[in-house]
Amino acid sequence: MDIKSEIDLDKLPRHVAVIMDGNGRWAKQHGKPRVFGHKNGVRAVRETTEAAAELGIEYLTLYAFSTENWKRPKLEVSALMTLLVETLHQELSTLLKNDVRLNAIGAVEKLPAATYETLLKSIESTRNNQRMTLNLALNYSGKWDILQATRTIAHKVANATIRPEDIDDELIAKYLSTAGMPDPELLIRTSGESRISNFLLWQMAYTELYFTPVFWPDFGKSDLYQAIVAYQQRERRFGKTSDQLLP
Ligand code: FPP
Repeated sequence: MDIKSEIDLDKLPRHVAVIMDGNGRWAKQHGKPRVFGHKNGVRAVRETTEAAAELGIEYLTLYAFSTENWKRPKLEVSALMTLLVETLHQELSTLLKNDVRLNAIGAVEKLPAATYETLLKSIESTRNNQRMTLNLALNYSGKWDILQATRTIAHKVANATIRPEDIDDELIAKYLSTAGMPDPELLIRTSGESRISNFLLWQMAYTELYFTPVFWPDFGKSDLYQAIVAYQQRERRFGKTSDQLLP
């Protein structure tokens, strides 16, 4: 049976997060430099975005560049930054046509100026789009996010706009870079690695984790459908017993 028809459209995750991994190994398998893998990864970004929007997923968050990725060879980092600029230019009309809003999470102001400016322009041009939010995590890490939220809250406590006793889950979530978005119900990581790698740490407290051996450049629509079907087959208990979940 066609895997897409197995998806229950009434039980879709509202927010799907993806760790796009395996570009380098995919390139090596093809006897090519790592950057070739990243270039082919763009095709997977396009397909996944399209499939998610078609299904009716509200938020898709892609881990495109982590705080730790600066440690990669200089040439690879600059190639990734250039690729990002090229991709944003190339895909802007498709985002507009498909009513997809672009957003970024992370310390984006520390990206190279050309990347930062193109990013801000793309975000600005798509800001009224409604169908889906494509969230790019760029210069992002989960610890960074918790840290920047903590700092902001600490300043507010210091100038008496927040009382320490007002700090709860909800307040912290309001100062994270994902403020206003639902927590992801599903995380997909490609390439056979089973780690969270400093991604959305606070937000993934109850996220279902799905690991697939497929390298990111080979990831396509049917892989996304398969992940959603697997998610829908799981029982989400949020600390309760199975019996307590019965209607
Ligand atoms: C992980 O593979 C991939 C990345 C760190 C970069 C992801 C970037 C893209 C897919 C291209 C541009 C993205 C956008 C949103 C336009 P890896 O290099 O860690 O692979 P390896 O583990 O096999 O070495």
